[in-house]
Amino acid sequence: MAAGIAVAVVGATGAAGQTTLRILEERKFPVRELRAFASERSVGKTVTFAGEAVPVQRLEAPAFKGVEIAFFSAGSAQSKQYAPMIVEAGAVVVDKSSAFRMDPAVPLVVPEINAHAVRGHRGIVACPNCTTIVTVMPLKPLHDAGRLRRVIATSFQAASGAGVNGIEDLRQQALAWARGEAMVPRHFPHQIAFNLIPHIDRFGADGYTGEEMKLVNETRKILEAPDLLVSPTTVRVPVFTCHSVAVNAETEEAIGAARARELFARFPGLRLWDDPAQNRYPMPVLVEGQDECFVGRIREDLSNPRALNFWVVGDQLRKGAATNAVQIAELLLRG
Ligand code: A2P
Repeated sequence: MAAGIAVAVVGATGAAGQTTLRILEERKFPVRELRAFASERSVGKTVTFAGEAVPVQRLEAPAFKGVEIAFFSAGSAQSKQYAPMIVEAGAVVVDKSSAFRMDPAVPLVVPEINAHAVRGHRGIVACPNCTTIVTVMPLKPLHDAGRLRRVIATSFQAASGAGVNGIEDLRQQALAWARGEAMVPRHFPHQIAFNLIPHIDRFGADGYTGEEMKLVNETRKILEAPDLLVSPTTVRVPVFTCHSVAVNAETEEAIGAARARELFARFPGLRLWDDPAQNRYPMPVLVEGQDECFVGRIREDLSNPRALNFWVVGDQLRKGAATNAVQIAELLLRG
């Protein structure tokens, strides 16, 4: 038998699925056979992997026979319905949806932070929400150095976080604006071009959105800090790729801006871009296409000696989704 792994990518025509195919190639993941899955609508199309056209298949359990690792990014409903069957058939599922993230039996993993959690998996490993990943990367070294007490986070999330329909909505509206035509929202609840929408996912009874509660609960689970106070606001912005987050982090022990810079610079998967005199700080247009998260604008909080303000930007299709998922699969291979 040829060396390598039989891999399935579910949601292969979508924004995260397409990026997963690219990252598997870039990182030279040992793929022996690649199978691509999407909805009924895409059967008959192909996706490209390693220079070859791969036919898109309908999502049905028998088509996964022999698959060893399956990457899921086709939405929660699909993960809930198919992932358990596919695990039953012998594959490990790396799930990008929110379906299993808060299940105590399912590890929720950012490899730079809690790689050890993968070991306890029972067939499914969950990949956190994209905004959570970008936010938690710089929080981890601060937590290790001074024990986090409270985090206030405000996100600025790209249209592609809502998938290919989100990208298309922003593109069509920008084109309509340039032609002097009406901008008609087709995917987002409001105009996204030249606008901000403080509403991602459903509102709960307390006024917080689903996206905001993911940031609260997933951050606590990944950092193994169940009592961490997290105060979130998540906002959709007219940017194609990269989520940015303005963070205020309070620790039990004061860390200070200079030490925080050192901690960020040393942490794997984080890059420090913090040179205000040179107008150097992370921005989506600079970070797009990169696998690391970039931190800058590091300041001591003027109102609280134990808190820091900073700004972190990550390509949410890469580190926020596909790169993190492929890193999890690499951990699985290492055993
Ligand atoms: P399709 O392109 O056939 O609709 P995005 O997050 O960019 O919107 O992509 C979602 C991905 O999930 C796409 O690949 C999409 O396929 C896939 N998908 C959506 N609904 C289903 C479904 N019911 N079964 C399988 N795949 C689905």
